[in-house]
Amino acid sequence: MTPRVLSGMRPTGHLHLGHFVGALSNWVKLQQTHECFFMVADWHALMSEYEHPGHLQEYVVSNVTDWLACGIDPKRSVIFRQSDVPEHLELHAVLSIVTPLGWVERVPTYKEQLREVQGRDLATYGFLGYPILQAADILLYRANVVPIGEDQLPHLELTREIVRRFKFLYKKDIFPEPAPLLTESARLTGTDGRKMSKSYGNTIALGDDEERVRTAVQQMVTDTQRARMTDPGHPEQCFVCQYWKVFSPGRAPALWEECRTSKRGCSQNKKELAEVLVKATEPMRRARAQGNVSASEVEQILKEGAVRARAVAGETMREVKKAVGLR
Ligand code: TRP
Repeated sequence: MTPRVLSGMRPTGHLHLGHFVGALSNWVKLQQTHECFFMVADWHALMSEYEHPGHLQEYVVSNVTDWLACGIDPKRSVIFRQSDVPEHLELHAVLSIVTPLGWVERVPTYKEQLREVQGRDLATYGFLGYPILQAADILLYRANVVPIGEDQLPHLELTREIVRRFKFLYKKDIFPEPAPLLTESARLTGTDGRKMSKSYGNTIALGDDEERVRTAVQQMVTDTQRARMTDPGHPEQCFVCQYWKVFSPGRAPALWEECRTSKRGCSQNKKELAEVLVKATEPMRRARAQGNVSASEVEQILKEGAVRARAVAGETMREVKKAVGLR
């Protein structure tokens, strides 16, 4: 049987190159070997954005537009919006009942976000249940494989623990234990060298126009130990050179060598990288400019995705309700 994949993204902003490298390019490939469910996690977004949810549905459309432009294929994969499938909340409720409080309280991402995230009040009952809703997302489709970033590993571990607990309590083997699939590619730094994140203002968005891509690359910090071109470069410490490794792995070794031996200057390096990134983002720009995926088409795709998702989710919920004695 073809193994099944489920993954999701929270629609909290426009997607950027970090999403492309860290997730989307991987999703596109998985479509060839797996049965894929790709979900816009708007309930999860609401958990942190509930005070200002005004742009939520705009981001849903924008994100799915980028997914399609990257090559996520609605004929092959099920593309859907979490809130269109009410079964997510039903399973969330069941799993909340069986999950010991201590298990969620000690999830490291929870404690970290409470501490680190500024400008939002995340000390809510709902936010504590964030990883349980994520477990419900995965288990509803009985996914075997979950492509995620490293930061999400504790959520997958909790999901696996919940599977074992459910089996122990109800002696029913409804859910397979899902395995994480870590994206191998290096994490892309933002243009300032910190993690690429909208809240740092250091992103290159997938829908950015060409000028903006070029300016962003122009402003990138390169090798701080290299004052003039005749100084030898240190590509392993240079953010621009790290981008080469991700976007042009074939060319990177030669380029790095040119840097080290002062045959390549930082300004040429940036100019050429800018053109590579302009090219990489071209399909996303085109998708917007030509309107070849309109908002109403995205809605149509999500609607059809929801029907397919619900067929699977409904069957799982029937079995779950029976197992827990609801009906
Ligand atoms: N929590 C994930 C993130 O922030 C998004 C997400 C929600 C998800 N549900 C999921 C990822 C299910 C994988 C599977 O990136």
